[in-house]
Amino acid sequence: MSIVVSGIRSTGNLHLGNYFGALKNFLKMQEENDCFFFIADYHALTTHPKPVDLEGGIRQVLAEYLASGIDPEKATVFIQSDVPEVCELYLLLNMNAYIGELERTASFKDKIRKQPENVNAGLLTYPVLMAADIIIHKANHVPVGKDQEQHLEMTRKFARRFNTMYGVDYFPEPDAYNFGKELLKIPGLDGSGKMGKSEGNGIFLFDTPAEIRKKVMRAVTDAGPQSMDETPSEPIKNLFTIMEVVSDPSTLQYFKEKHASCEIRYGDLKKQLAEDIIKVTEPIRERITDILADKTYMAKVVKQGAEKARASASKTVHEVRQIIGYRPI
Ligand code: TRP
Repeated sequence: MSIVVSGIRSTGNLHLGNYFGALKNFLKMQEENDCFFFIADYHALTTHPKPVDLEGGIRQVLAEYLASGIDPEKATVFIQSDVPEVCELYLLLNMNAYIGELERTASFKDKIRKQPENVNAGLLTYPVLMAADIIIHKANHVPVGKDQEQHLEMTRKFARRFNTMYGVDYFPEPDAYNFGKELLKIPGLDGSGKMGKSEGNGIFLFDTPAEIRKKVMRAVTDAGPQSMDETPSEPIKNLFTIMEVVSDPSTLQYFKEKHASCEIRYGDLKKQLAEDIIKVTEPIRERITDILADKTYMAKVVKQGAEKARASASKTVHEVRQIIGYRPI
């Protein structure tokens, strides 16, 4: 059994792309591994130093993950700031992280461009905190997308450097658990690319049926097939791709045939698609609402997660202090 660690952004709602992508894989991983899933609320301050409603945002994210099937009995689900041990490891790792390499990180350079008014030290050392998050549980795998691969590369470097520096074989070097072909990419409804929060084209699990119908009815299409057996255009292919994951295979086949015979009415396709999406999202939305209302349950999950994560984290910090040569406490 391997140890898997993954940080979840503490802002933003889950959309269909997250749900059929990363989340489905989390669900699989929690069955087979010792998983630590946490909400990265310290990292959040690097871009939002004064959050409007930090606690509310965290509760929402947590409720959405639980409603989607993350099981706190199987995985350790916790909030980053509930485990202050990570701060100590972060400090210790900072002594072995070099300004030059941190300044060369793609995400840092990107942030300098995006928020020139707030180039704080937390941004610079973001990869060090992320490395601490991961190696504090001695993780073997980290499920990450392309945008996080460099951070993981740095995590391996920091782990290796620690081992070399103190002449130990202590931290494992975690690999990027890449789902490759298995990772389903859900396209957006704007005719191109993938569904994403920043792209502004997302259908969120927490959207009401009315909102979903409105979004789907507004999806970009084309002027209709011009000849028999025409290959669908990008926007239509995208609608078919979403249909592939939410609809019955016979429904998809029906509309593909209608397209091939030039008889398709995009309005009908969208109506059906909206209803099939709602069939997936509505039970989840109801569960999110129920979980949010159940304060006792939420508190129990958070407490239990923090205890489990702290047990694992404090053991590591204790051993790291010994390795470096601090007097045991
Ligand atoms: N940087 C990650 C992101 O933006 C979030 C994150 C923080 C993370 N710590 C982590 C991911 C540890 C994996 C492991 O999505």
